[in-house]
Amino acid sequence: MSRSGKVTVVGAGFYGSTTALRLAEYDIFETVVLTDIVEGKPEGLALDINQSRSIEGFETKVVGATTTADGKGYEATANSDVVVITAGLPRKPGMSRMDLIGVNAGIVRGVAENIAKHSPNAVLIVVSNPLDEMTALAQIASKFPHQRVMGQAGMLDTARFTHFVAEKLNVLVASVKTLTLGSHGDTMVPVPSRCTVDGKPLSEKLSASEIEELVTRTRNGGAEVVALLKTGSAYYAPSAAAARMARAVIKDTGEVMPVCAWVDGEYGISGVYLGVEAEIGRTGIKKVVEGNLTASELTELKVAAEAVRSKQADVKDL
Ligand code: NAI
Ligand code: 2OP
Repeated sequence: MSRSGKVTVVGAGFYGSTTALRLAEYDIFETVVLTDIVEGKPEGLALDINQSRSIEGFETKVVGATTTADGKGYEATANSDVVVITAGLPRKPGMSRMDLIGVNAGIVRGVAENIAKHSPNAVLIVVSNPLDEMTALAQIASKFPHQRVMGQAGMLDTARFTHFVAEKLNVLVASVKTLTLGSHGDTMVPVPSRCTVDGKPLSEKLSASEIEELVTRTRNGGAEVVALLKTGSAYYAPSAAAARMARAVIKDTGEVMPVCAWVDGEYGISGVYLGVEAEIGRTGIKKVVEGNLTASELTELKVAAEAVRSKQADVKDL
C-alpha cells in the first residue's frame, strides 16, 4: 500500500492523542506528528503508538515533538499537508464551551501562527473550543485563505444525533442518516427534515415530541459526556470526526461532510464561519453545499449565524 502525506496533530491530550492513533491506524499517511507543550508527553505517546504497529498492522510512523509557545520544536511539523489543532483546555462540568474563549484564544493564536510559518500550504482542521470562534481565529492568525481553514463540529454532532435515533428505534446506526448545522453550541441546528431511517423520513418513525427530545439531547451531547466524566470532555467520537476530515483532505475524496466552514452567500448568509455541509478535498473546503431546509430550520440557521458572527467579530482582539 502506498502511503503519502504528513499530518500534524497539535495537542497531545485526550482528543489529540486519540486522533493521532486513529490517523496512524488508517495506514494512509507517511507520517503523523503529535505535539504538545508538556515536555516528553508527545514523544512518549508517539513511542507507545509506534510500538502497537506490529500488532495492529500499520506502517505509518508517529513522531512526537515537544513545542514551546514561542515556536521552538515546530520544525518537526514542517511541510505538513494537514494540521489538526486540539490544543487548549477542555471544559469542566457546569462550564459552557464559551467559558474557554479567553485562555484558548491565546493558545490557538500562537499555534496557528507557528504552524503557518512552518507549513504555509497546510489545511487546518480546528477542534479547540469554543469551536466556531477558534476556527475564525485560526484563519486570522494563520492568514490562510478561508477555504484552507475549517472546524470540526458537525461531524460529531451529527454522529451523536445518529446514535440517539438508532438507539431509540433499536436499529443499526448504518440505517440512520441525520444532519446538524449551525454552531457547536447553544445555536446548534439539528435538521430533522434531512433525517432518514432506511431511506424513510424520520417523521414516519417517531412523533414530533420524540424527535424534539432527541434534538435536545443532541444539542446537549457534549455536556452529557462532560457531566458523566466530571473531568475533561468527550474524545472518542470527536477524534473519529476529525480523523475522517483529515482523511478526506489527504485522499482528496470530495466527500460532503457537515463542518464549520466559511460561508459566503449560501443560505443568504455571508462572512462567517458556520456549520454547513461542504465538499472536502486536498484544497480544504472545495465547495459549501446548500441543501434543502424547512423555513423554520433556515430561520434557526440564520439565528445561529448571527450569534456566532458577533462572537467571531471579537476574536481578532483576543
Ligand atoms: P486535554 O486537556 O486532554 O488536552 C489538551 C492538550 O493541549 C494538553 O495536553 C495541553 O498540554 C495541550 N496544549 C495546551 N497548550 C498548547 C500549545 N500551545 N501547544 C500544544 N499543545 C498545547 O483536552 P482534550 O480533551 O484533548 O480537548 C482539547 C480541546 O478540544 C478542548 O478545547 C476541548 O474543548 C475541544 N473539544 C472540541 C470538540 C469539538 O467537537 N470541536 C469535542 C471535544 C473537545
Ligand atoms: C463536545 O461536544 C466538549 O465540544 C465538546 O464533546
